[in-house]
Amino acid sequence: SGALEGSSAKRGLWSSRLAFILAATGSAVGLGNIWKFPYITGENGGGAFVLMYLLCIAVVGIPIMMAEVMIGRRGGHNPVKSLQMIAERDRLKPAWKLVGAIGILAGFLILSFYSVIGGWAVSYVGTAASGQLTGQSADAIGAIFSGLLSEPLTLLLWHSVFMALVMVVVAKGVHSGLERAVTLLMPALFVLLLIMVGYAMTSGGFAKGAAFLFEPDFSKLTTTGLLVALGHAFFTLSLGMAVMIAYGSYLPKGISIAKTSITVSIIDTGVALLAGLAIFPVVFANGLEPGAGPGLIFQTLPLAFGQMPFGSFFGTLFFVLLIFAAWTSGISLLEPIVEWLEERKGMNRTISTLIAGIVCWALGIASILSLNLWSDVTPLGFIPMLEGKTIFDLLDFFTANILLPLGGLAVAVFAGWVMSRQAMEKELALSAPAFKLWYVTVRFVTPIAVATVFIYNLL
Ligand code: PFF
Ligand code: NA
Repeated sequence: SGALEGSSAKRGLWSSRLAFILAATGSAVGLGNIWKFPYITGENGGGAFVLMYLLCIAVVGIPIMMAEVMIGRRGGHNPVKSLQMIAERDRLKPAWKLVGAIGILAGFLILSFYSVIGGWAVSYVGTAASGQLTGQSADAIGAIFSGLLSEPLTLLLWHSVFMALVMVVVAKGVHSGLERAVTLLMPALFVLLLIMVGYAMTSGGFAKGAAFLFEPDFSKLTTTGLLVALGHAFFTLSLGMAVMIAYGSYLPKGISIAKTSITVSIIDTGVALLAGLAIFPVVFANGLEPGAGPGLIFQTLPLAFGQMPFGSFFGTLFFVLLIFAAWTSGISLLEPIVEWLEERKGMNRTISTLIAGIVCWALGIASILSLNLWSDVTPLGFIPMLEGKTIFDLLDFFTANILLPLGGLAVAVFAGWVMSRQAMEKELALSAPAFKLWYVTVRFVTPIAVATVFIYNLL
């Protein structure tokens, strides 16, 4: 409904609303949808968890995304400056620095293990292309995966390749080319997932797989499961670390924040559900374990590629597109810390990227070792909720389930209690009842939901 959506402004439309959607979708759609969503759904018992996740997207995720984009557009600067400018008369001014700090820390910690998983995808391009998957049994496919995990140096090589891809783009400071590629490659990924869902329908496990995803069995839902569902809503939509505040600062006035946020969220959720529908039928048709953990997609999809017609081709294409999706997300994870080094430490972009990237890469080694030499090292294992968690598991758990919800909580409090209601009404330009619904959500529902889930888990 904005000025740029008028009939005469086609090019303006392209470079504004669409550009924002491309950047935000590039950040949102990634390993979170295709790697993480299926494996945490499998670990947390399926349907009831999925329902809670969808509820978290609708009730917490979309309102927080709207709040982040709105703060960004209103402030028009980097996230910390935007927050501080808007909260002009707030005595808590320094507190908003914390949001920036959480964002920088979360991005840095997430990228360290995200890149290791991105490396798995890089490795599987070769595995699929060489035809090694064709006609293999589930056991053989499982052996290929455990073989990869057992070799720290191979993992390090692919982790390095992935991190280098991210660093090159961030160092150059131009993402526009990549964002344009999103218009081609995201739909390609979507279509390929549809083809895989089509294959899954013939696998003999489709009814079971779909039932696992969509028939809630609440006896399988734990309080930790709730925390994971909430955390994943933040992780998958790239919320709680001010990424959307940064992107929102480039969104021209007059474009609907609600519409764009909902569009990005629907695309992201659609990709995750398609991934689930492609994977779980294969799991059940082959008698595999849905709760197999982080290796789930690498133990199931290759099996499908090994059986389906043109499997080597589709498999190769799939892992290439997965790398691309992970790449655009990885960039948005590294960007905040690089900007911070540039602005606060006065370093140039190349040096900032090199320092941040190399430190992050080095931290990734701890995640690599968690998969083999340190697989028995569980530093916080004495806490019941964290029992059996390796360093890799802990980084994943701590960032998605603690840091991002905390960052999101701060954003909700900011929008709900600090920012002027009038200014927000103007930015969001919603109908009165829609605004009220959003306002009540960020003011009460989101903070209470996050606080409740936190408290339940601590007790
Ligand atoms: N949303 C990304 C995914 O689902 O893979 C991961 C991510 C990117 C999280 C950027 C947070 C972020 F700021
Ligand atoms: Na996502």
